[in-house]
Amino acid sequence: MKLNIYRTATDTATALLRFIIKKLTDSPNKVFDIAFSGGTTPSLMFDLWAHDFAEITPWQRIRFWWVDERCVNPDDPDSNYGEMKRLLLDVVPISEKQVFRIHGESNPAEEAVRYSKLAESHLSTKDGLPVFDLVLLGVGEDGHTSSIFPGQESLLTTSCIYESSIHPHTHQKRVALTGLPIINALQVVFLITGKEKAKVVKELYSFDSVTPSAYIAHRAQQVELFLDEAAGSLVTI
Ligand code: 6PG
Repeated sequence: MKLNIYRTATDTATALLRFIIKKLTDSPNKVFDIAFSGGTTPSLMFDLWAHDFAEITPWQRIRFWWVDERCVNPDDPDSNYGEMKRLLLDVVPISEKQVFRIHGESNPAEEAVRYSKLAESHLSTKDGLPVFDLVLLGVGEDGHTSSIFPGQESLLTTSCIYESSIHPHTHQKRVALTGLPIINALQVVFLITGKEKAKVVKELYSFDSVTPSAYIAHRAQQVELFLDEAAGSLVTI
């Protein structure tokens, strides 16, 4: 697990964009299947990507997948797809064929099956699981990642690629990429900023199973943490 700490959230998002774009340019003939988390943290990255890094990104070689989605309509302010569409997908030169959104408006359990099959039909496989080239994760203050919340640890080891889950406080239904395909990804990156995440980052870095994010961070093959100083302030190296 490699630690990358930067002064501000903007510096952190910029560094992660450079990391992703370098992977793309280092493999000029490869189409990358990238799964993106939602929430608020990646929004700054999407905005920077659209305005400061659009010219140097080979957009036609990216296929956009989601790590998880809230079970709402795509035009709902809570939609992870809707937020990325607003900030990035509507701004840069990509075709609809490159975008594989989770249908938040559908029945969660049925959509989890549909999207699992879609991923299986498009991605290469390893050990019987689809292989994402890169999975971008965030972390909640309770240590959840994707929409795998504490108390729902069965999603870390299930054989289903995507499953429905439920937010423990809002009871909002979710569709979530589960633990094994995340661990199976060629590259996992965590983008975590803000002092409110410092405690959960310390747990994630120090222990291997105390939270769903820690479980994944200590088992995925290639893991890089992209933190601002505030989120990394309690990590002792
Ligand atoms: C979601 C995300 C989720 C997110 C964390 C952190 O749909 O909410 O995929 O896993 O990464 O909750 O969210 P913030 O970036 O808003 O703190």
